[in-house]
Amino acid sequence: MKKEEILILLRERNDFVSGQELCEKFGVSRTAVWKVINQLKEEGYEISSVHNKGYCLVAQKDVLSDVEIKSRLQTERMAWELVYLTETGSTNNDCKLMAEQGAKEGLLVVADRQNSGKGRRGRSWQSPKGTTISMSLLLRPTYETDAAPQVTLVMALAMADAVREVTGLEAKIKWPNDIVVGGKKICGILTEMSLDMDTINYVVIGVGVNVNNDSFEDEIQETATSLKLQTGNTVSRASLIAVAMKYFEQYYEQFSKDLDMKNLKDRYQGYLVSMGKEVRVLDPKGEYVGVCRGINEAGELMVELQDGTVTCVYAGEVSVRGLYGYT
Ligand code: BTN
Repeated sequence: MKKEEILILLRERNDFVSGQELCEKFGVSRTAVWKVINQLKEEGYEISSVHNKGYCLVAQKDVLSDVEIKSRLQTERMAWELVYLTETGSTNNDCKLMAEQGAKEGLLVVADRQNSGKGRRGRSWQSPKGTTISMSLLLRPTYETDAAPQVTLVMALAMADAVREVTGLEAKIKWPNDIVVGGKKICGILTEMSLDMDTINYVVIGVGVNVNNDSFEDEIQETATSLKLQTGNTVSRASLIAVAMKYFEQYYEQFSKDLDMKNLKDRYQGYLVSMGKEVRVLDPKGEYVGVCRGINEAGELMVELQDGTVTCVYAGEVSVRGLYGYT
């Protein structure tokens, strides 16, 4: 009997479950059941035990723990191994270290809090405790290095779908990989790669989500938001992680067959916040303005210039802004 099996049963029943039923269902003694209930309580669950009635899980909106995430996962390959940490420096660094030590594809490292979270372009990333998701997924691709950066777009698509399914919000993608709701950022993705000569040793995709934050520091207030601020409700981080893994597994399987975005392109473009709108491309060689025409099969952003020619923007070199504001 696994802890998550008891948790799932208590959660689904949403009422008292007798000790007798639990013993019979899992073929274990009353003491064994009692021990697991105590372990769950130690992990932060509120479980009321009443003589002659049994155990009842008191509904809690957002518990993040190893057992809570495992009890919601529906994947086979992604997150088959889960490392949960209450606090760490950066889950990307943890995941890279575990990769160096031989961890296999699909390892997921999740933390409740990061004290030195990393953002893109050398920026820092805020992951306060009790409110955010910080997670890093390990991949060990056998394909060419050219295709690897596109896994970031695959994850962006999975995150947008997960946010939509769990919260009902119309999550959009700001190319290449920010997830935005109501014009503000709720999720960022940082992909790091280790190369061995010309082959990929491993890829770590790090995802940070603002889930139940009530406020943000002054300098990011204008551009950042959280799922709670957008819905008015507390959102379950464990559900969001599990649903994100479900979509990623599905989309990554497709991507691994095609080795490009051809079969994911339409879905991705459907969420693209700047589709058909004017964007400013901040190219180090010179800024320019054009109309966003979606992505090509390589995941590059297609921007139509005034003379009708279309340029393809590669994610690594430039950033793209809307003409007015962050998106
Ligand atoms: C961005 O700048 O938009 C990317 C932010 C990525 C943050 C995540 S949180 C989990 C993982 N660990 C890190 O240190 N960074 C990524």
